[in-house]
Amino acid sequence: MSVVKILCCLLLTFHLSEEKKIKGHRAVDAEQRVVLKEKKPYVISSVFKMFSEGEDNCILDPLQLHTLTSCGFNSSNPLIIITHGWSVDGMMESWVPRMATALKANLIDVNVVITDWLSLAHQHYPKAAHATRTIGKDIAHLLQSLQAHYQYPVKKVHLIGYSLGAHISGFAGSYLEGSEKIGRITGLDPAGPLFEGMSPTDRLSPDDAEFVDAIHTFTQERLGLSVGIKQAVAHYDFYPNGGDFQPGCDLHNIYEHVTQYGILGLDQTVKCAHERSVHLFIDSVLNKDKQSRAYRCTDKSAFNKGVCLDCRKNRCNTLGYDIKRVRSGNSKRLYLNTRPRMPYKLFHYQFRIQFVNQTEEMEPTLTISLTGTKEESEDLPITITEKILGNKTYTFLITLDRDLGDLMFLNLQWERSDVWKNVWYKMQSIFVWGSQQSNPQLTVGRISIKAGETQERTSFCAMNDDGQHMEELADKVFVRCKEDKPRHRRRKQH
Ligand SMILES: *[C@@H]1O[C@H](CO)[C@@H](O)[C@H](O)[C@H]1NC(C)=O
Ligand SMILES: *[C@@H]1O[C@H](CO)[C@@H](O)[C@H](O)[C@H]1NC(C)=O
Ligand SMILES: *[C@@H]1O[C@H](CO)[C@@H](O)[C@H](O)[C@H]1NC(C)=O
Repeated sequence: MSVVKILCCLLLTFHLSEEKKIKGHRAVDAEQRVVLKEKKPYVISSVFKMFSEGEDNCILDPLQLHTLTSCGFNSSNPLIIITHGWSVDGMMESWVPRMATALKANLIDVNVVITDWLSLAHQHYPKAAHATRTIGKDIAHLLQSLQAHYQYPVKKVHLIGYSLGAHISGFAGSYLEGSEKIGRITGLDPAGPLFEGMSPTDRLSPDDAEFVDAIHTFTQERLGLSVGIKQAVAHYDFYPNGGDFQPGCDLHNIYEHVTQYGILGLDQTVKCAHERSVHLFIDSVLNKDKQSRAYRCTDKSAFNKGVCLDCRKNRCNTLGYDIKRVRSGNSKRLYLNTRPRMPYKLFHYQFRIQFVNQTEEMEPTLTISLTGTKEESEDLPITITEKILGNKTYTFLITLDRDLGDLMFLNLQWERSDVWKNVWYKMQSIFVWGSQQSNPQLTVGRISIKAGETQERTSFCAMNDDGQHMEELADKVFVRCKEDKPRHRRRKQH
C-alpha cells in the first residue's frame, strides 16, 4: 500500500502545513482592490495565448488591444478560454493543446485562448490555490477590456477550467463588474483541497455565470481529502461512474505507472482519474454522434439500481459541450457510466425482474444476453445482491457499449454460484427425499427493461407457457409479452 501512502502524504503536505493560510487571503485581496482603485496600471500575472492550429500561439496583451487584432481575434465569434490547474513540473500539460485543437477543428468560427499561469501554478499547492483569485481577476480584466473596446458581450464567453482552473474561472465570473454575466463556465474536476465546503464566493458556484456545468471524476477520499471537489458547484454536476474513480485508472495500473516512471508515474496516476474529466469533454466535441447522456439521481447506489433513467422534466442531460442549458435554482447531480477509453459513451438499461413465490431464500447468479433489431449483447453476468424470497422485484442497471436497436428477446441463464449448496441440494434430492424431490427452483414472472437513451420500455415474458419455472443451470428464452408489440416509431428525447 506504499503508493497510497505516498499519495496521501503528497496531498497532506500541502493540506496540513498551509491550510490555515487561506484565512489571510481575503486581506491580500482587499489590498489588491485598493491598488485597482488607485488607478495604478494593472499588473497581470497570466499570459493569454490565442490558439491557432499549426502556428505558434500568439500572445495577447490585454493592455495593448491591437495585439488582439494581430493575433486574429474575431469579435463576431464566441470566445473560449481554457485554464489549466496546479502544475507539478511547470510544463503545460498535453491535454491543453489537445482540447484547443479539438475545439478549433470542430466548432466553426470560434476564438480559443489559453490562460498560461504556470509561473504561479508551479508552486506548493496552497500557494497555487491562493493564486486562483489573482488569475481569475486577470481573466475578468481581459473580458472587461474586450467589453470596453470591442463592445464584446461577455455572454459569448465560455470559460473551461480544469482543477484549480475551474475555481479561477469562477473567480473570473465573480470579479467581472457590471450586470452582464459570463455565458458559460465548465469546471473539469474542480479542485477539492482548500475549496471543499467553502462558501460559494470562495469557489466555483452557479452564480459565476449564466450557466455553469461541472464534471467530477476523482472524488475518492484519502484520509478525508479528495483531489476533486465532491460537492455540487454548478447548475448541472456530472458524476461519471459515481464520480469517485474512473474505469481504466485502477490500482493495478497505478503500480505499473509508479514502477515505470517513479514519482512522476505517481503524478500520472493521480492525473488518470482527475484528467478524465478533460477527456470526457474533448470526447463530446470530437464524437458528436456518440454523446453521453447522464441522469439525475440522488446517489451512486440508486443509479446502479437503474431507477434513475428518466428524462422527463429535464432529469437527463448531455455530458460535455452540447449540454442543454436549462437553468434552475438548485444544482442537479447527474450520473452516468462510461467506457474506460474514448469514445466513452455507454447505453444504459434498467432491468426489473419479477421473482414469484420463491419459497427458499437465495441470492442467485444469472447470466443475461439480449438480442435487438441491430445487434446482440455478449453474456452479461448478474450477481443479485439482495435475498430473493416470496414475491420480489429486483432492479439493476446494465450498460452496453453499443445500441442494440429495439429489444426483441433475451436469454436468461441461472447458475448456482454456491458450489457447496449445489452439492447439498443434490444430496438432499438423492438421499433424503428420494428422486421425487426436484432441484431448487426459481420462478421468474415478467422482466421489464427500460432503455435510458431511447426512453423505451419493453416487457418480456417466458416463451414456453410452462409456468415460467426456471431450473438450475437452465437456459430460458424470454420474448416480448403479447400485449407489448414493438412500436414502429421510437420516442426520441432531446
Ligand atoms: C469574423 O468571422 C465572421 C464569421 O463569424 C466572418 O464572416 C468574418 O469575415 C470574420 N472577420 C475577419 C476579420 O476575419
Ligand atoms: C403462488 O402461491 C400461491 C399460494 O401461496 C398460489 O395461490 C399461487 O397460484 C402461486 N402463484 C404462482 C404464480 O405460482
Ligand atoms: C405472489 O403473487 C401471486 C400472484 O402473482 C400470489 O398469488 C401469491 O400469493 C403471492 N405470494 C406471496 C408470498 O406474496
